[in-house]
Amino acid sequence: MAGARKTRVAILISGRGSNMAALMEAARDPAYPAEIVLVVSNRPGAAGLERAAAAGIPTRAIDHTAFADRAGFDAALDATLRAADIDLVCLAGFMRILTPDFVAAWAGRMLNIHPSLLPLFKGTHTHRQALDAGVRLHGCTVHFVVPELDAGPIVAQAAIPVRQDDDPESLADRVIVQERRLYPAVLALVAGGRARLEGTRVVIAEAAPDGALFSL
Ligand code: GAR
Repeated sequence: MAGARKTRVAILISGRGSNMAALMEAARDPAYPAEIVLVVSNRPGAAGLERAAAAGIPTRAIDHTAFADRAGFDAALDATLRAADIDLVCLAGFMRILTPDFVAAWAGRMLNIHPSLLPLFKGTHTHRQALDAGVRLHGCTVHFVVPELDAGPIVAQAAIPVRQDDDPESLADRVIVQERRLYPAVLALVAGGRARLEGTRVVIAEAAPDGALFSL
C-alpha cells in the first residue's frame, strides 16, 4: 500500500547471519511489509555484521563483555533499539539470554528462530539432541520470545525427515535451508498483521499461505 509505514525491524545476531541475510533479501521486495533498519551483534567480530553493512544496512556492535552484568548489556541494547524507532526485533542466531525486564519491554514484539521443533530440544546442540532421541521428524520453529528460554507462542514450524545416516552436520545443513525459508515468511505474516497473539497461542489469518510454512 503506497504510503503505509512498514514495520521497522532490528535483527540481532551473534554469528554468520545467514537467517539475517534471508530476511534482508525478502525485505528488498517493495511489497514486503517490513523493512530491516538495523542489525545488532553482541559479538563485534560476527561475520554477519560485515554482510549487513555490505548490503547497506546500519549495524551496531554492542560487546557484551564490556558490561558488568546482563542488565547493563540489555539496557544498552534497549536504548539502541529505541533510538532507531524499532517496532519488531528478530533474533537470528543471537546466542545470549535476555533478562526478563528486557523481554517484558519487547513482549509481543520479539521473534526468535530455533533449530528444532519446539517444545522438543531446547538450548544448544539441537541436532545432536534430535538424533539421540531417535525422532523421525526434526526442523525449526519461529516463536514469540518470553522470559523462559526457547519457549513462547509458536508462529510457524518447518519439518524435515530424519534419515538413517544423518549426523548433526547433515541435519543442520537441511534444517538451515528451512530456517531461511520459514523466517521471512513468518516475518511477513507478523509485520502484515496476519499473525496475532491470543493469550499463549498465535492465531494466523485465514488468508495466510500455510502451504508455504509447513514442509517435508
Ligand atoms: C541458526 O540455526 C539458528 O536457528 C540458531 O543459530 C543458527 C544461526 O545461524 N539459533 C539458535 O540456536 C538460538 N538458540 P545463522 O547465523 O546463519 O542465521
